[in-house]
Amino acid sequence: MIIEQELFEQLDFAENPLFETIITNLLEQKFAVIDHFYDEAEVVALRNALLERHRTIGFKKSAVGNWTNEEIDKSIRGDFISWIDESKITLAEELFFKKINSLVTYLNKTCFMGIFQKEFHYALYPTGTFYKRHLDTFANDDRRKLSIVCYLNEANWPKENGGELTLYLPNETLDLLPLPGRMVIFESQVIEHEVKPVKASERLSITGWLKTR
Ligand code: OGA
Ligand code: MN
Repeated sequence: MIIEQELFEQLDFAENPLFETIITNLLEQKFAVIDHFYDEAEVVALRNALLERHRTIGFKKSAVGNWTNEEIDKSIRGDFISWIDESKITLAEELFFKKINSLVTYLNKTCFMGIFQKEFHYALYPTGTFYKRHLDTFANDDRRKLSIVCYLNEANWPKENGGELTLYLPNETLDLLPLPGRMVIFESQVIEHEVKPVKASERLSITGWLKTR
């Protein structure tokens, strides 16, 4: 006999085919690429929020692990970042987290992922910058389970602009253009990846991690 609660859960299940796709892809290949995860209006609002923050507060040069040598850092990654504090966010950022939070709830409910914490930052890669092949985990901290990148570039980001996210998979490499609204999610401890040199324009994104306790 199906009790009412179970019926509700099945309905809930059926109502989230997008999240189901993400979970299936994560289980099968340890990554998922979702185009139009954010719609055009959301991307414009988030891009404006990024640019406004960049103009007013400014971003800081990203660092690599615990190193403090700027030259070494620059030879590994060249992006500028600004962490997002979820307790003081703009309307656009609220929309961003609404979707992320429902994904987290879904992951925890259906996969017992134990996601307990998250951290997100804006990222800006000026022309000429890149991020060499790496894993998103620190030697002394393995709480990062899933990496998420959402791209906020202008509507057409031609191939000539470069800045692809390259995923190193067991039998192939996958080059993903940073298309607006596209969301890439992957297992932080498993998938090595790299950001290819940006050849023109600025490459804009929000990047973050879902973490366990
Ligand atoms: C990172 C990263 C990928 C991207 O910030 O750790 O790998 O596509 N970003 O911006
Ligand atoms: Mn990374």
